[in-house]
Parts: sequence; structure tokens; C-alpha cells
Amino acid sequence: MTTTDPDTEVGRDLLRFPPDFLWGSATASFQIEGATTVDGRGPSIWDTFAAKPGAVLGGDTGDPACDHYRRYPADVELMAELGLGAYRFSLAWPRIQPLGAGRVEPRGLAFYDRLVDELLGKGVQPVVTLYHWDLPQALEDHGGWRNRDTAYRFAEYAALAHERLADRVQLWTTLNEPWCSAFLGYANGIHAPGVVDPKASLEAAHHLMLGHGLAVEAMRAQAPADHRFSIVLNFCSVWVDDDASLDAARKVDGLQNRLFLDPLAGRGYPEDVVEDTAWLGDWTSVVRDGDLDVIATPIDWMGVNYYSPTRVAVADDPLVVSGGPFPGLRGVEFLPARGEVTGFGWEVDARGLTELLERLQRDVGLPLVITENGSAFPDVVEGGEVVDEARTRYLVDHLRAVHRAIAAGVDVRGYFAWSLLDNFEWAAGYSQRFGIVHVDYDTQVRTVKRSGRTLAKVIGANAVPAHGYDLP
Ligand code: FCB
Repeated sequence: MTTTDPDTEVGRDLLRFPPDFLWGSATASFQIEGATTVDGRGPSIWDTFAAKPGAVLGGDTGDPACDHYRRYPADVELMAELGLGAYRFSLAWPRIQPLGAGRVEPRGLAFYDRLVDELLGKGVQPVVTLYHWDLPQALEDHGGWRNRDTAYRFAEYAALAHERLADRVQLWTTLNEPWCSAFLGYANGIHAPGVVDPKASLEAAHHLMLGHGLAVEAMRAQAPADHRFSIVLNFCSVWVDDDASLDAARKVDGLQNRLFLDPLAGRGYPEDVVEDTAWLGDWTSVVRDGDLDVIATPIDWMGVNYYSPTRVAVADDPLVVSGGPFPGLRGVEFLPARGEVTGFGWEVDARGLTELLERLQRDVGLPLVITENGSAFPDVVEGGEVVDEARTRYLVDHLRAVHRAIAAGVDVRGYFAWSLLDNFEWAAGYSQRFGIVHVDYDTQVRTVKRSGRTLAKVIGANAVPAHGYDLP
């Protein structure tokens, strides 16, 4: 669908997006808010984890992050300047329920009230994620997501947060990337709460999915008809060099993608994944009658986070434990990235995104929204500007990849750049900058990067250039 734009002097080719395409940018509470001890906020697992020596690079913590808790009006102003139609952010559960259950902190809810009002006042649609990894520490003290009870606490919290914002927020996401919460949190422990227990991580995955289903049920029961509920998953396209490695790809695809997709689609947990992981012990014993129905409760859209493809090969020894976050994975070797990589070392290849979207259209059949996509590079501010050419290329190439999928018939409704602001990148602390807006952490000065200006032009044109990286 390449069209020549009659409005531009150069008549350059533009790839146009559907008229009501949702353009936005995304953040998460712990990564930007700072103010971790004010207004009655309880500690989260990330506060505890970041306080452990060696857990987070440079000993970085959630303070001050981007000080967004205090600076949100200026940040919303910036969104409006960029022309963002929507903003995806998460609520900090421990601000709203400091102990994760029971008592509600009115000052926590009031902050999100103010943020939502500010967004609406500037014509930016709020898209709320209920859980982006900052579990109240009090719940972790009782096992966190390893404990089935956490799923019920999550649904209670979801219902009360939804009730408060329901008159102004239509688009809701339960969990961000349960793969990360379960496997980075409890299998290899590189994320909070830092537990290394692969079998328990699969049980945690089930409790997360149960919490998702219970939360959707609870919110739907009280929601007006125009509310749209979703979950955000982090998918990867798994690539191999030879047929001998196809089974390795199946295993990784199973643990990364199908373990979450299949139960959502009502297919239960994939048998091959259950078999592959059985040597850890029977984690499926935590699945009770009725749980799979709860998880399969219908949702309205699926959030897709995509960064990079994953390359794997069959390992020489079929029983060698692959290590890393994939619980129970054996006989698989992860291959190094090829070609261009980001500052984080992640392979840059936008074809993985088109391939993924086409696959999700077939396997899921729900409207899709790209809820995160972006790249980290070590930016510098020079003369008041950040000329982030590599990120700009990444952005435009991935938007072309999204356009290609739409042209092939995939129902993609929106795109959210990760991230609005440079922020606390979890175990990497402040060392990785993903923002389309630069943040100087000493002065809290924001500088829109070239990638941010490019996104603003894309939004203005509702199109990306078919070639090159410049828009008029
Ligand atoms: C995703 C997370 C997000 C951010 C990006 C880089 O996995 O959802 O918070 O850290 O990766």
C-alpha cells in the first residue's frame, strides 16, 4: 500500500496507517515515578531488590527515577507537544494498597486521579496497566506469585482501581509481561524478588495468569460496555539456521509464547511444554478445577511487546540445562545476536515484528496493539540536542514492519513507543536509555530526542516514509 503523497513538494512515498490508529508512548510506575516513600506508599519488591548489594547495576534504586510523581504535569505537556494520542502507564499497587491487601491509601489513588485528569485535559487517552512488576513487598513476604492467594489479592486491587478510574479510562491491561514476572523473578532471579527456583517459577506463571483472569472477570462485572480489557505479553520470534534446530525453537517458543497464549485462547497449557518441564516436578498440580476457564475469560485486545528476535540452535547434549530464565529448558543453545545490535546488545531486525504480528493474527485473532517497542542506546546531549540516529532508524524500520503486517491483513490498532522517558531499566539501573525523551537524572531536565521528533512527525502524517528516515 505505497502511496504518493500529493501534499508534499517532493512527492515522497508514504505508508499510511488506518485513520483511527492509536499513537502513543509507554512507561511504568516504578521506572519513572520516584517518590517511593511519600504519601503512604508501601515498599514493593523492587525497592527491596534494589537495596540488595549487587542486584541492580551501579546500586541504582527507584529514586529519584524521573521524579514523575511530582513532575507529571510537565510530562503530560510534553506528550501533548509530541502529539501523542494515548499514553500507556502503570499504577503502582503499593501506592494504592501499601500492604497489597485491605487498607486503601487515598493519596495513592488521588495521584492517578490527577494524572488521568491531566491527560484528558490535554487530549491524551489514558491506557492503564494494573501490574508492571512492582508487587507490594508484604505479599512477597507470603510467597508473592508463588502463593495462589496473590491472584485473588490482585483481582481485588484491580477491581478497586478500576472502579475509581472507570468514568475516565476505557482501555485496561491486567499484567505486563507475566513471562518476566515469573521467570526473571523466580527462575533465574535477575529481577525482583530474586528467587532461583525454576519449578516455583512455573507455579508463579500459573498464579499470574489466574490473577489476570480473575481481574478481568471482576472489572468486567462492574464496567460500562465500552471498556476494553487486555493482557500484555512479551513475545519473541525464534529463529534457527537449520532444520535440526527446529525442535529447539519449538521448546523456546513454547516457554516464551505458547505457555501464555494457549491458556488465554482456551487451549490450556501446551502439552509439549508440560512434558519438557516435567523433570522439574509436577508444577501443574497447582492448577485447580476451573482455573483454565478463568484464565480463558474473553479479553478484547492483546498487547504485544516486541524488541528483538531470538536465535537458537540444538545443543550437542539434549539434556544440557540451558540456564537463564527459561525454567526446565534443556538441549537448546542461545546464539549470539547478528548484525546491528542496540546498546543493550539486542539484535535489531524488524522482520521479527511483522512475522510475529502475522502469527498472532492466525493464533489469537484479537485486535492487537503494539504496547512496547523500542531500543536503548547511549545518547549524549550536545548543544541542547540528542541526535539518536540509531534509535530513529529502529523506530521507523519497526513502524514499516507494523505497516507491512497491516497491509497483509493483520488487525493492529495502535503503536506505543517504549519509552516516553529514559528511565530505571530494572536490573540495568539507569545505564540503558530507551526514551524518545532524554532525562538528565541530576537536573531532571527533559530533552526531546530526534527519535521523539520523528515520532511526532509520523503521528502528524499518520504515516511513515516508505524509504529513508526523513519526514517533511
Ligand atoms: C520490557 C519491560 C519494560 C522495559 C522494556 C525495555 O520487558 O516491560 O518495562 O524494561 O522491556
